[in-house]
Amino acid sequence: MVVLVLSCLLCLVYLYDRKNEQETYIGAAAQYNGKRVALTFDDGPHATYTKVLLGGLKERNVRATFFLVGENIKGNEDIVNMMKEDGHLIGNHTYSHVILNEVSWDAALLEINKTNEIIKEVVGVLPTYIRPPYGGWSEDMLYEVNLTPVFWNVDPMDWNLSDVGGIVKSVVENVKDGDIILMHDIFDSSVAAALEIVDELQKQGFMFVTVEEILIS
Ligand code: NI
Repeated sequence: MVVLVLSCLLCLVYLYDRKNEQETYIGAAAQYNGKRVALTFDDGPHATYTKVLLGGLKERNVRATFFLVGENIKGNEDIVNMMKEDGHLIGNHTYSHVILNEVSWDAALLEINKTNEIIKEVVGVLPTYIRPPYGGWSEDMLYEVNLTPVFWNVDPMDWNLSDVGGIVKSVVENVKDGDIILMHDIFDSSVAAALEIVDELQKQGFMFVTVEEILIS
């Protein structure tokens, strides 16, 4: 009997602690400073690193935007579905990462439409946003494809830096309200840096949103 009472008491103490922990967490996350920022990831999905990234974003309750390369989707359909289930926005980044305004008009359309179809096959809806590789875009394309091009304001050149601290510093020191950050989920260092960036900016009260939430408001 005594053991039973004691274990009940311990259980209550444990539950009380858990409750406090949760309240502290909610309290910390609620210190929103009114600034919003969008993380975007190009060139994936990657079988390993994108999965790690999705796990980390979920833990931190963060939604991001992924611009997928069509030819990288085959075999990684589960990852693309995970993106959708977790509330991330999925966009087009061409089929084979071409510079759209440097290939023929027909080739450009094929690159875009093929990727649109593959994304629709996997998640059931057509994307509405495109990130043109290297920013190569012509306004004429707007009339031909039903996609809004999305560019960026903050570029830490993560594809060129394996130094996680350097990537984090470059973003954290330059970011401001309404910015769109360009990163790539095909490198170990980029994923590690992205999660550190989230931790640091959340501490500062930033809220992470999809590009759609930045562009529409
Ligand atoms: Ni790219």
